[in-house]
Amino acid sequence: MSSINKTIIDKKTDLNPIWIMRQAGRYLPEFREIRSKNTDFIKLCLNENLSTEITLQPLKRFELDAAIIFSDILMLPHGLNQRVEFKKNLGPILGDLNLDQISIIKDIDFVKKIQPVYNAIRSVSKNTLTKNKCTIGFVGAPWTLLVYMINKQSPKLKLIDNFYSDSLLIKGTLKILDKFLKIHIKNQIKNGAEVIQIFDSWAGLLDKNDLSHYIYEPTISLVEFTKSLNIPVICFPRGIKDYKNYCDVVKPSAICIDYEVDPIQIRKEIKIPVQGGMDPKTLLMDKDNLRKEAKKYLDIFKDHPYIFNLGHGVLPQTDPNMMDYLVKMVKDY
Ligand code: CP3
Repeated sequence: MSSINKTIIDKKTDLNPIWIMRQAGRYLPEFREIRSKNTDFIKLCLNENLSTEITLQPLKRFELDAAIIFSDILMLPHGLNQRVEFKKNLGPILGDLNLDQISIIKDIDFVKKIQPVYNAIRSVSKNTLTKNKCTIGFVGAPWTLLVYMINKQSPKLKLIDNFYSDSLLIKGTLKILDKFLKIHIKNQIKNGAEVIQIFDSWAGLLDKNDLSHYIYEPTISLVEFTKSLNIPVICFPRGIKDYKNYCDVVKPSAICIDYEVDPIQIRKEIKIPVQGGMDPKTLLMDKDNLRKEAKKYLDIFKDHPYIFNLGHGVLPQTDPNMMDYLVKMVKDY
């Protein structure tokens, strides 16, 4: 069993496992090299040989404890035939969401369309570089996917004004998301994913009163489903104010925290295994400050099952040498 699974399942506190969100990405020159020749991001995600290679790139450099499959949460709307494009400096741009169209998608057509993702998971999990390590699959949470599908671009600071106007569209889309997210989770597990992480990047946009309907209920459905397949599930409700209540209600196997929450309070309030927290900007500082900040998280969670990670994805301007320093430091601590 990998040190990540031991930390989550057996509640081990002495292993100091580490992986990094977006560990395969633009801060690595070998990724930029492949990316420059493959301008269509979705096509790149669906090229199983290249996505396998990209997934393994950070494992060749650093002693990380997990491979996270190189894909994107927006493969789901792509699989449902909603247009998804990545424009330089703009982020993702989606086409119109048409409930009638996404309602008629058949399971096998969805799976066929994103089959290369599953093939890549299989080849990553069988590669010698992931021996004794954890292969992590992931999905976007229903709320965050709903945000992209209706907003049609990153909401940055706010949602479009009429976001909530079509309640039938919202209700219908959430129902379809529940079905296809379960298919997506199941196929990732069938092909070798040993942990599932649910990214709820826009959890922080909601008022407290709306959490139950848009986040808690739809996420509980996925958490229970994943657990029923005997696979641990890590939830990352970025920007949610009340992590304790989230954990009490949603009951994930582990919780990933963002860099705005106080880790000391988390340590006091939360009983389940914790992941992440450190500000990705720390990797842009000098080594002394990086060591100090990383040490802070390791010390706070010394007697708590803890997986080292950042509080959001690694920034593209990060120096890979700093990543190397961080990984070695955490492993030797
Ligand atoms: O963590 C990993 O290494 C695995 C791969 C991964 C990607 N996206 C690759 C990617 C994962 C887990 C994601 C999740 C994802 N995608 C999230 C949740 C996490 C978060 O960042 O909040 C979200 C919201 C998306 C949607 C998305 N994909 C956006 C907003 C963007 C553009 C912004 C950006 O950082 O470029 C992407 C593109 C994307 N997904 C890239 C990568 C490596 C950059 C693509 C490029 O090279 O241009």
